[in-house]
Amino acid sequence: MSMPTPLSNMQTRDMASLIHPFTDLTLMRQTGPLVIERGAGVFIYDTEGKDYLEAMGGLWCTALGWGEEALVEAAAEQMRKLPFAHIFGGKSHEPGIALAEKLKEMAPFPVGKVFFANSGSEANDSQIKLMWYAANARGENRRKKIIARERAYHGVTLASASLTGLDAFHKSFDLPFDFTVRAACPHYYRSAENGESEAEYGARLAADLEALILKEGPDTIAAMFTEAVMGAGGAIVPPAGYHRQVAAMLRKYGIRLVDDEVICGFGRTGHAFGCQTFDYQPDSMTVAKALSSAYLPISAVLLSPELTEIIEAEATRIGGLWHAFTYSAHPVAAAVALRTLELYEQRDIFGHVRKVSPLFLERLRALAGHPLVGEADGVGLIGGIELVADKKSRRNFEAARGVGAASARFCQEEGLVVRPLASDRIALCPPLVIGEAEIGELFDRFERGLDRTLAWARGEGLV
Ligand SMILES: Cc1ncc(COP(=O)(O)O)c(C=O)c1O
Repeated sequence: MSMPTPLSNMQTRDMASLIHPFTDLTLMRQTGPLVIERGAGVFIYDTEGKDYLEAMGGLWCTALGWGEEALVEAAAEQMRKLPFAHIFGGKSHEPGIALAEKLKEMAPFPVGKVFFANSGSEANDSQIKLMWYAANARGENRRKKIIARERAYHGVTLASASLTGLDAFHKSFDLPFDFTVRAACPHYYRSAENGESEAEYGARLAADLEALILKEGPDTIAAMFTEAVMGAGGAIVPPAGYHRQVAAMLRKYGIRLVDDEVICGFGRTGHAFGCQTFDYQPDSMTVAKALSSAYLPISAVLLSPELTEIIEAEATRIGGLWHAFTYSAHPVAAAVALRTLELYEQRDIFGHVRKVSPLFLERLRALAGHPLVGEADGVGLIGGIELVADKKSRRNFEAARGVGAASARFCQEEGLVVRPLASDRIALCPPLVIGEAEIGELFDRFERGLDRTLAWARGEGLV
């Protein structure tokens, strides 16, 4: 790694005042943070003017890339007209109404109504509360457990962090809450048995899920949360047929399927929603991130007509739905989100993903030939790469050696932003507007970062 340079004024100010999440604080005290000043298209620029190809779309979210004037205009126009209004106490406003209508029109399953929040975590917390609310309304008071998978990521608020299936998010936080039931992570590379086909593996997971449901008691389980492709858990593509079988199993036992489309929603996997790419039907869906191309915070819960009816009947009976946020359906965020969804359509962004995805996946899968890479796979414009100490036995590096994090730092020095995840997996999730030449540049920079990681690992005696 390059020698640390003296910290800039901005870095010093940062370190005196900001708490940094998801960060190796010991390392950052030496290197200082990377302070970003501006962005254009798929590139961001630091305060020294160095460019970085942003291969994570920020945090899996900046779908239209940086500098999209149409969104700036939508925000400015709405700010001038009505910068704030709420939907409590029987009030409403046009941006909220229009966005709810648009989401209903785009949804790949019948949607009754839409509930708005400000982040993926808030929306998923709302989902849990609404699932309990609906179960109680039906007199199914025992249905309190929620199934989520190992390595799932559903957010960081108390309830959503409980569903998140990564130890780091529980340690020292007294989590998870005990309503959480853990199912297996569908990772063929890591957990298929010798000689097992993908289809057989998927069928085994569905059978295991049924055993889990029966052990817990079907009438004690309100819902299961899934992501089409697991994002923060490792950018893990599930085996063929898995989601369809899981959905069928849940239906059999009257357990609702909550589809967390916070990353996969809006074109990421090549169709508008991940559940279309993987062919399953949820009862309820969470969207956020690319909903507004991340230009403003907004998220939504899309409820089936049946759930909508149950929830509204209960709210009528007890005198109101006592759950919402000050900024639910914030008019400026809603106006920007609506404009984002219009741009996806007008520019056929999801078609563009399907057009450039073959090149992205070809370059991604070619990485499997690299001495450090155990698995490299993806779908649409999302990919996961697992670095291993030994390709043949698939042995991981010791977590404490931080090989994945080191590779992300080498990539950063090469002008590429990627995200290191648990088990030395590296995620790629570039803005959906990325062009073919930029995809080439992304992988050229990534390969240079990987080669430097290999040289470093050899020097450290890790391989
Ligand atoms: C699938 C998924 N669900 C929920 C969340 C939480 O969203 P937020 O960070 O907006 O709370 C994330 C964030 O990365 C996510 O990837």
